[in-house]
Amino acid sequence: MTVRHFLSLMDCTTAELTSLLKRGIELKSLHRQGVIYEPLKNRVLAMIFEKASTRTRVSFEAGMIQLGGQAIFLSPRDTQLGRGEPIEDSARVLSSMCDAVMIRTFAHQTLETFAQYSQVPVINGLSDDLHPCQLLADMQTYLEHRGSIQGKTVAWIGDGNNMCNTFIQAAMQFDFQLKVACPEGYEPDQQFLAAAGDRVTLTRDPREAVAGAHLVNTDVWASMGQEDEAQARLKRFAPYQVTPELLDLADKSVLFMHCLPAHRGEEVSAELMDDPRSVVFDQAENRLHAQKALVEFLLVD
Ligand code: CP
Ligand code: NVA
Repeated sequence: MTVRHFLSLMDCTTAELTSLLKRGIELKSLHRQGVIYEPLKNRVLAMIFEKASTRTRVSFEAGMIQLGGQAIFLSPRDTQLGRGEPIEDSARVLSSMCDAVMIRTFAHQTLETFAQYSQVPVINGLSDDLHPCQLLADMQTYLEHRGSIQGKTVAWIGDGNNMCNTFIQAAMQFDFQLKVACPEGYEPDQQFLAAAGDRVTLTRDPREAVAGAHLVNTDVWASMGQEDEAQARLKRFAPYQVTPELLDLADKSVLFMHCLPAHRGEEVSAELMDDPRSVVFDQAENRLHAQKALVEFLLVD
Protein backbone atom coordinates (compact mmCIF):
# COMPACT_ATOMS: atom_id res chain seq x y z
CA MET A 1 0.00 0.00 0.00
CA THR A 2 1.35 3.45 -0.85
CA VAL A 3 1.90 5.75 2.09
CA ARG A 4 -0.04 9.03 2.06
CA HIS A 5 2.00 12.12 2.89
CA PHE A 6 0.87 15.69 3.51
CA LEU A 7 3.65 17.86 2.16
CA SER A 8 1.32 20.25 0.35
CA LEU A 9 -2.40 20.84 -0.13
CA MET A 10 -1.98 19.19 -3.54
CA ASP A 11 -1.39 15.82 -1.84
CA CYS A 12 -5.15 15.65 -1.20
CA THR A 13 -8.14 15.94 -3.50
CA THR A 14 -10.55 18.82 -3.02
CA ALA A 15 -13.10 16.34 -1.66
CA GLU A 16 -10.59 15.05 0.89
CA LEU A 17 -9.68 18.57 1.98
CA THR A 18 -13.33 19.52 2.31
CA SER A 19 -14.04 16.49 4.48
CA LEU A 20 -10.95 17.27 6.59
CA LEU A 21 -12.36 20.73 7.33
CA LYS A 22 -15.73 19.28 8.31
CA ARG A 23 -14.05 16.66 10.47
CA GLY A 24 -11.99 19.37 12.17
CA ILE A 25 -15.23 21.14 13.11
CA GLU A 26 -16.70 17.86 14.43
CA LEU A 27 -13.60 17.05 16.48
CA LYS A 28 -13.65 20.57 17.93
CA SER A 29 -17.24 20.11 19.01
CA LEU A 30 -16.53 16.67 20.56
CA HIS A 31 -13.55 18.15 22.41
CA ARG A 32 -15.65 21.03 23.74
CA GLN A 33 -18.28 18.56 24.95
CA GLY A 34 -15.58 16.68 26.85
CA VAL A 35 -16.03 13.51 24.78
CA ILE A 36 -13.06 11.15 25.03
CA TYR A 37 -12.10 9.84 21.56
CA GLU A 38 -8.85 7.88 21.41
CA PRO A 39 -8.46 6.12 18.05
CA LEU A 40 -4.67 6.59 18.13
CA LYS A 41 -3.92 4.63 21.29
CA ASN A 42 -0.28 3.49 21.24
CA ARG A 43 0.42 5.48 18.06
CA VAL A 44 3.42 7.80 17.99
CA LEU A 45 4.07 10.99 16.02
CA ALA A 46 7.72 12.07 15.74
CA MET A 47 8.09 15.84 15.34
CA ILE A 48 11.32 17.26 13.93
CA PHE A 49 11.68 21.00 14.44
CA GLU A 50 14.59 22.70 12.67
CA LYS A 51 12.89 26.07 13.32
CA ALA A 52 11.11 27.54 16.33
CA SER A 53 7.40 26.94 16.93
CA THR A 54 4.66 27.57 19.46
CA ARG A 55 1.39 26.70 17.69
CA THR A 56 2.58 23.83 15.51
CA ARG A 57 4.37 22.06 18.31
CA VAL A 58 1.65 22.46 20.91
CA SER A 59 -1.23 21.67 18.55
CA PHE A 60 0.36 18.45 17.28
CA GLU A 61 1.47 17.39 20.75
CA ALA A 62 -1.87 18.17 22.43
CA GLY A 63 -3.75 16.68 19.49
CA MET A 64 -1.88 13.37 19.67
CA ILE A 65 -2.46 13.14 23.42
CA GLN A 66 -6.18 13.90 22.99
CA LEU A 67 -6.47 11.18 20.33
CA GLY A 68 -4.90 8.67 22.73
CA GLY A 69 -1.40 8.69 21.20
CA GLN A 70 1.87 10.46 21.90
CA ALA A 71 4.19 12.90 20.17
CA ILE A 72 7.97 13.04 20.46
CA PHE A 73 9.75 16.39 20.02
CA LEU A 74 13.07 16.17 18.18
CA SER A 75 15.42 19.01 17.32
CA PRO A 76 18.70 18.97 15.39
CA ARG A 77 20.39 20.37 18.49
CA ASP A 78 20.10 17.13 20.40
CA THR A 79 19.68 14.46 17.73
CA GLN A 80 22.07 13.10 15.12
CA LEU A 81 20.20 15.14 12.51
CA GLY A 82 22.23 18.11 13.68
CA ARG A 83 25.47 16.16 13.35
CA GLY A 84 25.04 15.29 9.71
CA GLU A 85 23.20 11.95 9.73
CA PRO A 86 21.69 11.77 6.24
CA ILE A 87 17.96 12.50 5.89
CA GLU A 88 17.54 9.19 4.07
CA ASP A 89 18.91 7.23 7.05
CA SER A 90 16.97 9.27 9.60
CA ALA A 91 13.78 8.65 7.62
CA ARG A 92 14.32 4.88 7.60
CA VAL A 93 15.10 4.77 11.32
CA LEU A 94 12.36 7.11 12.59
CA SER A 95 9.69 5.60 10.35
CA SER A 96 10.55 2.12 11.64
CA MET A 97 9.68 3.23 15.17
CA CYS A 98 6.96 5.85 14.77
CA ASP A 99 3.58 5.92 13.01
CA ALA A 100 3.95 9.35 11.40
CA VAL A 101 6.57 12.09 11.21
CA MET A 102 5.98 15.84 11.20
CA ILE A 103 8.84 18.01 9.98
CA ARG A 104 9.42 21.77 10.18
CA THR A 105 12.42 22.58 8.07
CA PHE A 106 14.09 25.04 5.69
CA ALA A 107 14.40 23.54 2.18
CA HIS A 108 11.21 21.85 0.99
CA GLN A 109 13.41 19.19 -0.62
CA THR A 110 14.27 17.90 2.86
CA LEU A 111 10.61 16.94 3.29
CA GLU A 112 10.49 15.33 -0.15
CA THR A 113 13.62 13.29 0.55
CA PHE A 114 12.42 12.24 3.98
CA ALA A 115 9.05 11.18 2.53
CA GLN A 116 10.73 9.16 -0.20
CA TYR A 117 12.52 7.02 2.39
CA SER A 118 9.76 6.93 5.02
CA GLN A 119 7.45 3.96 5.51
CA VAL A 120 4.96 6.15 7.38
CA PRO A 121 3.11 9.39 6.54
CA VAL A 122 5.19 12.57 6.58
CA ILE A 123 3.49 15.89 7.42
CA ASN A 124 4.84 19.31 6.45
CA GLY A 125 4.88 21.43 9.60
CA LEU A 126 6.27 24.38 7.53
CA SER A 127 9.04 24.65 4.97
CA ASP A 128 10.53 27.68 3.22
CA ASP A 129 7.99 27.01 0.46
CA LEU A 130 4.75 25.87 2.09
CA HIS A 131 2.72 25.69 5.31
CA PRO A 132 -0.26 23.47 4.46
CA CYS A 133 -1.32 22.64 8.05
CA GLN A 134 -1.91 26.35 8.65
CA LEU A 135 -4.20 26.53 5.64
CA LEU A 136 -6.31 23.64 6.95
CA ALA A 137 -6.91 25.68 10.11
CA ASP A 138 -7.51 28.88 8.11
CA MET A 139 -10.01 27.27 5.76
CA GLN A 140 -11.78 25.65 8.71
CA THR A 141 -11.97 29.07 10.36
CA TYR A 142 -13.48 30.68 7.26
CA LEU A 143 -16.02 27.85 6.96
CA GLU A 144 -17.06 28.24 10.60
CA HIS A 145 -17.50 32.01 10.35
CA ARG A 146 -18.80 32.54 6.81
CA GLY A 147 -19.54 29.18 5.16
CA SER A 148 -17.95 28.01 1.89
CA ILE A 149 -15.09 30.07 0.48
CA GLN A 150 -15.81 28.88 -3.08
CA GLY A 151 -16.16 31.82 -5.46
CA LYS A 152 -14.99 34.37 -2.89
CA THR A 153 -12.12 36.84 -3.27
CA VAL A 154 -9.12 36.61 -0.98
CA ALA A 155 -6.34 39.19 -0.61
CA TRP A 156 -2.75 38.50 0.39
CA ILE A 157 -0.84 41.58 1.51
CA GLY A 158 2.94 41.68 2.02
CA ASP A 159 5.62 39.08 1.46
CA GLY A 160 5.11 36.42 -1.21
CA ASN A 161 6.36 33.82 1.25
CA ASN A 162 5.55 30.23 2.27
CA MET A 163 2.10 31.25 3.51
CA CYS A 164 1.36 33.15 0.30
CA ASN A 165 2.45 30.13 -1.80
CA THR A 166 0.12 27.96 0.26
CA PHE A 167 -2.76 30.39 -0.28
CA ILE A 168 -2.13 30.04 -4.02
CA GLN A 169 -2.57 26.27 -3.71
CA ALA A 170 -5.63 26.82 -1.53
CA ALA A 171 -7.13 29.05 -4.25
CA MET A 172 -6.77 26.14 -6.68
CA GLN A 173 -8.14 23.52 -4.31
CA PHE A 174 -10.99 25.53 -2.75
CA ASP A 175 -11.85 27.50 -5.89
CA PHE A 176 -11.44 31.15 -4.92
CA GLN A 177 -9.76 34.18 -6.50
CA LEU A 178 -6.55 35.39 -4.89
CA LYS A 179 -5.19 38.93 -5.21
CA VAL A 180 -1.59 39.28 -4.04
CA ALA A 181 -0.16 42.74 -3.23
CA CYS A 182 3.61 42.65 -2.70
CA PRO A 183 6.64 44.84 -3.41
CA GLU A 184 8.69 44.15 -6.51
CA GLY A 185 11.17 41.36 -5.85
CA TYR A 186 9.03 39.74 -3.15
CA GLU A 187 6.55 37.88 -5.34
CA PRO A 188 5.40 34.36 -4.54
CA ASP A 189 7.22 31.46 -6.17
CA GLN A 190 6.83 31.41 -9.96
CA GLN A 191 6.06 27.67 -10.06
CA PHE A 192 3.00 28.12 -7.81
CA LEU A 193 1.85 31.19 -9.75
CA ALA A 194 2.19 29.37 -13.05
CA ALA A 195 0.17 26.40 -11.78
CA ALA A 196 -2.64 28.68 -10.59
CA GLY A 197 -3.03 30.63 -13.86
CA ASP A 198 -5.55 33.49 -13.82
CA ARG A 199 -6.95 32.41 -10.45
CA VAL A 200 -4.17 34.55 -8.90
CA THR A 201 -3.43 38.17 -9.78
CA LEU A 202 -0.49 40.32 -8.68
CA THR A 203 -0.50 44.02 -7.86
CA ARG A 204 1.81 46.46 -6.06
CA ASP A 205 -1.14 48.25 -4.44
CA PRO A 206 -2.62 46.82 -1.23
CA ARG A 207 -5.78 48.91 -1.70
CA GLU A 208 -6.40 47.35 -5.08
CA ALA A 209 -5.97 43.83 -3.66
CA VAL A 210 -8.25 44.44 -0.68
CA ALA A 211 -11.08 46.15 -2.64
CA GLY A 212 -14.15 43.92 -2.34
CA ALA A 213 -12.22 41.03 -0.70
CA HIS A 214 -13.99 38.58 1.60
CA LEU A 215 -10.81 37.54 3.39
CA VAL A 216 -7.61 39.53 3.93
CA ASN A 217 -4.37 37.87 5.05
CA THR A 218 -0.91 38.95 5.95
CA ASP A 219 2.19 37.47 7.59
CA VAL A 220 5.53 38.61 8.98
CA TRP A 221 7.79 40.56 6.63
CA ALA A 222 10.85 38.47 7.54
CA SER A 223 10.24 34.74 7.89
CA MET A 224 12.33 32.34 9.94
CA GLY A 225 15.73 32.08 8.28
CA GLN A 226 15.54 35.68 6.95
CA GLU A 227 16.56 37.39 10.18
CA ASP A 228 19.52 39.13 8.46
CA GLU A 229 17.15 40.82 6.00
CA ALA A 230 14.72 42.03 8.66
CA GLN A 231 15.88 45.66 8.74
CA ALA A 232 15.91 46.10 4.98
CA ARG A 233 12.51 44.44 4.71
CA LEU A 234 10.99 46.80 7.32
CA LYS A 235 11.58 49.73 4.94
CA ARG A 236 10.53 47.91 1.79
CA PHE A 237 7.27 46.63 3.26
CA ALA A 238 6.21 49.74 5.19
CA PRO A 239 3.41 50.63 2.69
CA TYR A 240 1.95 47.14 3.14
CA GLN A 241 0.78 47.32 6.75
CA VAL A 242 -2.78 46.00 7.15
CA THR A 243 -4.92 48.39 9.20
CA PRO A 244 -8.63 48.73 10.03
CA GLU A 245 -8.81 51.55 7.43
CA LEU A 246 -7.41 49.30 4.71
CA LEU A 247 -9.94 46.61 5.67
CA ASP A 248 -12.74 49.17 5.28
CA LEU A 249 -12.18 48.90 1.50
CA ALA A 250 -13.06 45.20 1.57
CA ASP A 251 -16.47 43.52 1.41
CA LYS A 252 -18.50 44.22 4.55
CA SER A 253 -18.35 40.50 5.50
CA VAL A 254 -14.51 40.54 5.40
CA LEU A 255 -12.42 38.54 7.87
CA PHE A 256 -8.81 39.28 8.73
CA MET A 257 -6.36 36.40 9.19
CA HIS A 258 -2.74 36.08 10.24
CA CYS A 259 -1.08 32.73 10.94
CA LEU A 260 0.82 34.26 13.89
CA PRO A 261 3.23 35.07 15.42
CA ALA A 262 2.43 38.69 14.51
CA HIS A 263 4.51 41.85 14.76
CA ARG A 264 2.05 44.54 15.81
CA GLY A 265 2.98 47.85 14.19
CA GLU A 266 4.71 46.13 11.28
CA GLU A 267 2.66 43.91 8.95
CA VAL A 268 -0.48 44.45 11.05
CA SER A 269 -1.51 47.44 13.16
CA ALA A 270 -2.09 46.79 16.85
CA GLU A 271 -5.77 47.80 16.59
CA LEU A 272 -6.51 45.36 13.79
CA MET A 273 -5.42 42.34 15.84
CA ASP A 274 -8.32 43.05 18.22
CA ASP A 275 -10.77 44.33 15.59
CA PRO A 276 -14.08 42.39 15.44
CA ARG A 277 -13.17 41.37 11.88
CA SER A 278 -9.98 39.66 13.09
CA VAL A 279 -10.16 35.89 13.65
CA VAL A 280 -6.46 35.31 14.29
CA PHE A 281 -6.95 33.50 17.59
CA ASP A 282 -9.66 31.25 16.15
CA GLN A 283 -7.18 30.28 13.45
CA ALA A 284 -4.58 29.43 16.10
CA GLU A 285 -7.07 27.34 18.09
CA ASN A 286 -8.17 25.54 14.95
CA ARG A 287 -4.64 24.26 14.34
CA LEU A 288 -5.41 21.73 17.07
CA HIS A 289 -8.64 20.47 15.55
CA ALA A 290 -7.63 20.65 11.89
CA GLN A 291 -4.49 18.61 12.57
CA LYS A 292 -6.37 16.07 14.67
CA ALA A 293 -8.54 15.56 11.60
CA LEU A 294 -5.39 15.26 9.48
CA VAL A 295 -3.63 12.64 11.63
CA GLU A 296 -6.88 10.71 11.94
CA PHE A 297 -7.19 10.75 8.13
CA LEU A 298 -3.58 9.63 7.65
CA LEU A 299 -3.47 7.01 10.42
CA VAL A 300 -6.98 5.73 10.98
CA ASP A 301 -9.07 6.00 7.79
N1 CP B 1 1.49 29.66 12.70
C1 CP B 1 2.47 28.85 13.14
O1 CP B 1 2.87 27.87 12.47
O2 CP B 1 2.96 29.16 14.37
P1 CP B 1 4.25 28.55 15.07
O3 CP B 1 5.45 29.04 14.34
O4 CP B 1 4.17 29.07 16.48
O5 CP B 1 4.16 27.04 15.02
N1 NVA C 1 6.23 32.95 7.13
C1 NVA C 1 6.47 32.61 8.50
C2 NVA C 1 5.37 31.76 9.05
C3 NVA C 1 5.52 31.37 10.50
C4 NVA C 1 4.44 30.48 10.99
C5 NVA C 1 7.82 31.92 8.62
O1 NVA C 1 8.12 31.06 7.78
O2 NVA C 1 8.57 32.23 9.54
